[in-house]
Amino acid sequence: MVYLNGNFIPKEKAFISVMDRGFLFGDGVYEVFPVYNKKIIGFEAHLSRLQDGLDAINIKNPHSNDDWKSLIKKIISFNIKNANQAIYLQISRGCDQNRKHTYDELDPTIYIQSSLIGPREKNSLFKGKSAITREDIRWLKSNTKATSLLANTLYAQEAKENNAEEAILLRDGFVTEASSSNVFIVKDNCIYTHPKGRNILPGITRDITITLAKKLDIKVNETLSSKKQLMEADEVWITSSTREILPITLIDNNIINTGLAGPIWSLIYDQYQLLKTA
Ligand code: PDD
Repeated sequence: MVYLNGNFIPKEKAFISVMDRGFLFGDGVYEVFPVYNKKIIGFEAHLSRLQDGLDAINIKNPHSNDDWKSLIKKIISFNIKNANQAIYLQISRGCDQNRKHTYDELDPTIYIQSSLIGPREKNSLFKGKSAITREDIRWLKSNTKATSLLANTLYAQEAKENNAEEAILLRDGFVTEASSSNVFIVKDNCIYTHPKGRNILPGITRDITITLAKKLDIKVNETLSSKKQLMEADEVWITSSTREILPITLIDNNIINTGLAGPIWSLIYDQYQLLKTA
């Protein structure tokens, strides 16, 4: 079951108009909420970023946070066969009479669905995943979680075609983030990640990871890292709501350190798992 504009319906029966600006222009924003046994991780933070996204593209928030909560809870319960769920929520600007670039205030199109977050055993993660690097040529509003993701999908596809988990992006020689995740580097027991701003999506998992690291008294530097620092790191991870905290051990055929996930990843990964049952 999915939610579309006021109705809970089977996904096969969910249709939108060809005049929807989400379809015509990618004119919308979205969120992905990770859910473990009905517990939503970072719920308030996701709603707050949704509000920021709506503000950034001038769409009025169609619901209060309480309304969002009850809609999302219903989708979770309709899809409870997925023990762990990624709840996708999209708001597009809505449908106009004609296709034109400019917009008036419209009734937004609201869509919510659930998909499965598959089980991921820690033991299977130690060997890590591989990544490729690419130049980050995305627009300078990457902090807005917009549905127009053409650059990101092309990067992700290139990664897939290279048998890699992710494409790590570099702007002016410095790591920004990856096609659908944030990037962390560990060197000499300190953690480095790109500062917030217009070049990266302010990931909720990123924030959680930083908080967990600080609780463990591990130093976190929100600063730029060069490609050389990436390649010579002790550990590299990517973070996102669906991937959690995932070690990257091979980048452009260059082995990161020992080629296995590192001890700092292991510590923070364990802390993240505790959030699912807390
Ligand atoms: N992507 N950076 C980009 C470009 C992303 O698309 C995402 C998330 C992140 C991590 O954000 P968070 O920790 O809040 O999930 C960083 C989602 C999962 C997606 O597009 O499906």
